[in-house]
Amino acid sequence: MKNVALDKHQRPLRDLRISVTDRCNFRCRYCMPEEIFGPDYSFLPEDKILSFDEIERLSRIFVSLGVRKLRITGGEPLLRKDLPELIKRLNQIDGVEDIGLTTNGSLLKKFAKDLYDAGLKRVTVSLDSLDEERFSNMSGNRGKVKAVLEGIQAATEVGMKVKINMVVQKGKNEKDILPMALYFKEKKHILRFIEYMDVGNYNGWKLDEVISKQAIIDLINEIMPLEHQEANYIGEVANRYRYKDSDDEIGIISSVTDSFCSSCTRARISAEGKLYTCLFATKGYDLRELVRSNQNDNEITAFIHSIWSNRTDRYSDERLNHTNQSNQTTSHKIEMSHIGG
Ligand code: GTP
Ligand code: 5AD
Ligand code: SF4
Ligand code: SF4
Repeated sequence: MKNVALDKHQRPLRDLRISVTDRCNFRCRYCMPEEIFGPDYSFLPEDKILSFDEIERLSRIFVSLGVRKLRITGGEPLLRKDLPELIKRLNQIDGVEDIGLTTNGSLLKKFAKDLYDAGLKRVTVSLDSLDEERFSNMSGNRGKVKAVLEGIQAATEVGMKVKINMVVQKGKNEKDILPMALYFKEKKHILRFIEYMDVGNYNGWKLDEVISKQAIIDLINEIMPLEHQEANYIGEVANRYRYKDSDDEIGIISSVTDSFCSSCTRARISAEGKLYTCLFATKGYDLRELVRSNQNDNEITAFIHSIWSNRTDRYSDERLNHTNQSNQTTSHKIEMSHIGG
């Protein structure tokens, strides 16, 4: 494939994460704290958001550059009208091997069947606690455990593979690590623990609120012995661990204490159509303007190729060089809710 793009660290472009909306019906404190994302916050108007035609066109171009995996994100992607229609269109692109969706699960019960019928075979649901009070607190008084569990159940029943994401934050939900592990082992869903990250500009991140990968493993291992597993593929974000007494597994996403930039093959498009080459990027490249101009596919492909070829991002690797930091950078980072994680 002559077009395949390699960056400055020889990392190919393999995954594209597409945010379809910057809105969310939750206000998780580590992502969209209510004080900032309140009633006066100005979300993107419809005409500034990429249309399905534009997303499909860009996806085809990214596939021609080597992308094989697509992931739909938000904000909360199920707030985007007619999302199953987009899944159907993306599923028809030759070269796409895998489509995933990351959702807070609150609307999943309603959409699970339509999504599955459109071709979505797997979904990742975020859930930080099984305790109604703690979950409500973490989600900015919006989330209901029961609704999310019903969403997970509905997705499982229609035939989707479901993974669960739990962000672990000291002082907030570390006591949920074991109950979550036990519950999802029993349900046979892969639970991934995510180290709390310094994404965006407003969550007030501090290193001492991070519970490390090792601490999480030690805690679970003491009760339910674990065994490290090889990655499913090069560049997999989560480290895998299998319970020794079964085939069930967990994942740990350790961007803070054990970063994985050297194998990072992910590009991201925000809902407004900006291309970001890192989750912690301060600068995006306007693809919306390009697709709305008279540039043809070859010209847009060449533009994206040149961006990826010049990519040097290694934010998480570099973060470890100055570990006692809080989330204070001089430049403005892209918000998680614009880029979908
Ligand atoms: P799979 O295809 O199932 O492996 O999905 P995934 O783990 O890549 O996607 P998901 O949206 O579930 O992301 C899980 C967590 O990993 C989220 O908190 C993401 O923000 C984080 N994450 C994903 N990719 C990256 C990355 O390139 N860098 C960092 N630092 N975090 C990432
Ligand atoms: N640190 C770690 N994970 C986060 N997510 C959102 N904000 C953060 C953060 N500050 C997670 C969500 C979702 C995934 C896309 O990213 O909970 O599961
Ligand atoms: Fe919404 Fe997900 Fe952000 Fe929570 S983490 S506010 S559910 S986009
Ligand atoms: Fe990739 Fe940036 Fe995450 Fe490193 S910090 S893995 S370069 S997205």
